[in-house]
Formats: sequence, structure tokens, C-alpha cells
Amino acid sequence: LVVGIAGCTGTETPTTTDTGAKQTYIIGIDAEYPPYSYLDKDGNAIGFDVDSAKWIAEQQGFEVKFQPTAWDGIIPALQAGKIDMVYSGMTITDERKEKVNFSIPYWQVNQTVAIHNDTAVTMDNFYAGTLIVGAQRGTTGQIWVEENLIDSGKMPSENLKLYDSFPLVAADLQNKRIDAAIYDKPPMLDAIADKPAHIIGEIDTGEVYGIAIRKTDTELLETMNEGLTKLMADPYWEELKTTWDM
Ligand code: ARG
Repeated sequence: LVVGIAGCTGTETPTTTDTGAKQTYIIGIDAEYPPYSYLDKDGNAIGFDVDSAKWIAEQQGFEVKFQPTAWDGIIPALQAGKIDMVYSGMTITDERKEKVNFSIPYWQVNQTVAIHNDTAVTMDNFYAGTLIVGAQRGTTGQIWVEENLIDSGKMPSENLKLYDSFPLVAADLQNKRIDAAIYDKPPMLDAIADKPAHIIGEIDTGEVYGIAIRKTDTELLETMNEGLTKLMADPYWEELKTTWDM
């Protein structure tokens, strides 16, 4: 369990003089997931989820540190104790629930499909499984394509190209190395904003985001649920939506 005391190694007497020692929780984020979690030009974590986590920490009396972590390995990193939670637009799925606990849901999204402006492919082509599709490895976009197009035999599995981060998918869409990209709507909008690409369809997955926490950390789960409940009832929640344009 990574519960550090801010500024201490654990063997020395805490030197904090004010409120005493607060617990520090390490929050794992995908650092390329705007508008939820990403880095500013100085390398500081920013975004809707980052601001939410800071607000909850303030309310619930703990400190947070943000740890950029490869998305595809983020649940193993949580299980191994390298981070204490994942607060980074993670969809609550039954498969993930076998490995970790999730907080109450705090956001709902759909998957979207985007194409290059110069191509004329349609959602019918996408659903028929004839396109080369790019997705971020380990995401619900990947899982949707596998479960709905590949497993049913409509799409050859080699037509699904997986990438470690979504900016790499968007770059290959721009280069026309793939016909289409699939991703959660808000980060998709962000990723294609400066590219010759647009969304052609939304898949109504209705998936919801939650904070992932180790199964053994039941107290932390309660703390985060309490914090989320407070946050979503606070005027700051509306302010956050405006700030991050959602
Ligand atoms: N919501 C999707 C999922 O849970 C995509 C999340 C990608 N998140 C991220 N921080 N890269 O798989």
C-alpha cells in the first residue's frame, strides 16, 4: 500500500507543523487524455479529473500526487501498489471489476468514430467491418470493435490497429494509414480538433467513468465515494464542466 506521509520517508518524525501529517495518495493517469487528464507545458497534471481529484483531496483531507502511467498497464500498476487509484476517464466494466473496485460513476460517454476529411467512408462501412480501424490499446473502444465486429467474423482481427496512446492513432488517421479511429467522445473531439478529420458516428455505449481502487482499500473507496458525492452536489462541479468545456 503506497500511503506516504508527505515529505517523510516513514522512519523520521513528520516535520509538518500545521495540520500534521496527511496521507498522500498516488493517482495514476494517462497523461494524454484531454480534457480529463493530461500535462501542461511544464509537465504538471491538469484536466477535469485532475481538478476533481484535487478538490476531493482538499475536502477529505489528504494529499495527491499524479503519476503518468501507461494506460495498457495501469490496472497492473494499481494492483502492484505503484499507484493508489486510477482517476483518468476509466470506464467501469465487469471485466475490470474482477480485478479492482470502482467508485460510484461520475461521468457518462459514448464511443465515436472519426475519419479523415478526404475519405468518404460511412458508418455502414464501419459496422460492416471493412475498414482499418485504430484504437488505443486497452480501451473500451478496442473492446467494442472486438466484441461487435471481430468476434462475429465481420472484421479480420488484423484490421484493428492498436496504439499505446491516442495521439498516435490520430496521427495515423491524419496520414491515412487507418480508415477510422474509435474513442470516447470528449478526448476524440480534442484529438482531432487540429486535424483534417471529423466524427461520422456515435455508438451509444452509455458507458460510465469511475475511479478504480484496489480491492483491499475499502476505506479509500468510501473516502472517494463520499468526495465524489460532495463534488457532484457542489457548485464547483458546474464550474469544472465550464472550465474544461464539457
Ligand atoms: N474510457 C475508455 C476506457 O476506459 C478509454 C479510456 C482511456 N483513458 C485514458 N486515460 N487513456 O477504456
